[in-house]
Amino acid sequence: MSIIRQNISLKNYNTFGIDVSVKLFGQFTNVEELQNIITDQKYIQEKLLILGGGSNILFTKNLDGLALHNQITGIEAVEEDDNSVVLAGGSGIVWHDFVLHAINLNLGGIENMSLIPGSLGASPMQNIGAYGVEVKNSFEWLEAYHIESGEIHRFNNAACEFGYRESIFKRKNKGQYVITKVAFRLTKQHQLNTSYGVIEQELETLNITEPTIKDVSNAVIKIRESKLPDPIKIGNSGSFFKNPVIDNALFEGIKAKFPKIVSYPAGNGKMKIAAGWLIDQAGWKGKTIGSYGVHKNQALVLVNYGGSSGSDIYKLSEEIIQSIKEVYGINLEREVNIL
Ligand code: EPU
Repeated sequence: MSIIRQNISLKNYNTFGIDVSVKLFGQFTNVEELQNIITDQKYIQEKLLILGGGSNILFTKNLDGLALHNQITGIEAVEEDDNSVVLAGGSGIVWHDFVLHAINLNLGGIENMSLIPGSLGASPMQNIGAYGVEVKNSFEWLEAYHIESGEIHRFNNAACEFGYRESIFKRKNKGQYVITKVAFRLTKQHQLNTSYGVIEQELETLNITEPTIKDVSNAVIKIRESKLPDPIKIGNSGSFFKNPVIDNALFEGIKAKFPKIVSYPAGNGKMKIAAGWLIDQAGWKGKTIGSYGVHKNQALVLVNYGGSSGSDIYKLSEEIIQSIKEVYGINLEREVNIL
């Protein structure tokens, strides 16, 4: 039986490094342990928070309730055919470890998402993505513990209703499931995706003309390390905001005023705008207020240099949203969950 402790600091359980406490804290290494805790009469009324890598969360206050750190591990190949292998892993595995495991087996599909902070279980929640590839491109299925019924439900790709940094687990099914296992269909003869300009440039710099899966992963790691702060050194949560998707008509008006705006066609008469560019051009990049601010290399990333409160960082995000609305008439949405 797992031990549940009281008044525990969550500082080491969120990549922003915010020091808040939670009333009750425990961990689980398999579904049975999870079930035992959350069906225990002592805890059944408690508000439940499942912690993975804590890389997409901003704590703004001390929490009442029960936080459980997911430590379900183990990776296995569960299916194989001529072209692919389905690799399934426990949801508590560090995402990058899962990526490296796949690369070591020479399986392709997720190498462009190397070094994204967080856990395997959180990856489908918000359909993480980087450098032209998203989870939904190779996701096969996940298993999740249904809190109300105590059953394990399996969701295939369509059932997850993936969108840009979205899934059913952030919408309709929010708070109803604990993801326990995640499986990806990875390819044996892999078609690399190096179309993202910076990857091509990095491979050129490294003098690689016929890249392997590992080379692409290494290139992505180099790019991320040069642009994005390492959460171990500087508290952060990756992109704090989503790239807004707006109607072409609104976009044309903005482009007339800001011809250098960075945008990508998003289909259905819409454009996706680089929020980093908007925030940067509005003068926020590198802005530091005491011990927190906007990162100097990537304006989409808010940072805690140490000792800041989540509510201060939240306030800064409000000011940025307000400013982007005033300057461009665009509503920014947060990617990070606020608690
Ligand atoms: N830009 C600026 N100034 C900045 C930041 C960006 O001008 O301060 C410009 C860049 O020059 C570039 C464009 O904006 O032209 C886009 O920047 P970048 O390639 O860095 O990507 P992004 O759109 O800002 C997204 C993801 C990242 C992912 C990268 C690479 C979102 C919210 N963010 O960022 O994901 O790593 O693409 O694919 O979609 C995350 O979600 O936590 C994350 C880091």
